[in-house]
Amino acid sequence: MREFNPWVSPLNRHTSETTPTGGTIEYEDFSCTIAVLGSLLYTLFQERWQEVQIGHVVQGSVLELSFVKPPKICILYDGYLTVATETWHLHLCIEEHLGGPHCKTPPELRSQRLVSRGALYRRLNEKGKPTSWGIQFWNGDGEKMMTLFLPNPYLDKDENLLPEGKPQLEKLGLYETLRETYILGKQPIPFPENPLKHPYLAVCRSSRCNPSRNWQPTFNALKEATEKAGLDIPVQTAGCLEVCKLGPIVFYSGDRTWYAQAKPDIAQRIVEEHLVAGNKISTHLYPRS
Ligand code: FES
Repeated sequence: MREFNPWVSPLNRHTSETTPTGGTIEYEDFSCTIAVLGSLLYTLFQERWQEVQIGHVVQGSVLELSFVKPPKICILYDGYLTVATETWHLHLCIEEHLGGPHCKTPPELRSQRLVSRGALYRRLNEKGKPTSWGIQFWNGDGEKMMTLFLPNPYLDKDENLLPEGKPQLEKLGLYETLRETYILGKQPIPFPENPLKHPYLAVCRSSRCNPSRNWQPTFNALKEATEKAGLDIPVQTAGCLEVCKLGPIVFYSGDRTWYAQAKPDIAQRIVEEHLVAGNKISTHLYPRS
């Protein structure tokens, strides 16, 4: 694994775009390495979730979603970050999506799906006054793929405009901190390692994965074994892990390993033999090597 460097190298790339109403959007690009994207998005979705909104802006349509509780899932699987609330979820491709255990995603599609550009932005009105702040992502085809809206000092908590001349400028604190870290490289990323790359174990709980309906005993066995071994490796349930047969299916993100037919006794061996001793259980690997 590459060493995690908490200092971002500034790209010094500033561009602007004129809007149809005579305003401007100023962009300041940041590096889209997995270290930067993982840390930035972990901060926004796990630590500052109350302050951000997620959406999409194109001519004729705006979508803005808020969190009312911390996201219940924030996980990186096969290149896609999944963030899930009780009622909605999002996927964002921040690392190459290889296509599951068989790596079936064609190279051109991998490049098209991946975030290729990210920038902090400020929208200015026709008089040059900033009116909103956020983060914009583009995919490999240069299409705007997702917008994150950062706190706006001109709006109250219900999104109503505050009285003229009475902005809450302290709300720009998050934008300023992100700018110092990811645009200017004047302060370090506030993590000792990429928080989204912390290894985890996942068990497919999808009913399509017959007989993974029996995932619960496997999940319990993994939990018990990791606790007994004193490992800091969370055990999660997951949607489809792209095997869809031969369940229960277990995935270990640390080295991208899938296990099939992982009943509780195999789950225990995955922890003891693979995670602790470094020897994979060859009889249950998927695909068979
Ligand atoms: S539904 Fe379980 S791996 Fe696809």
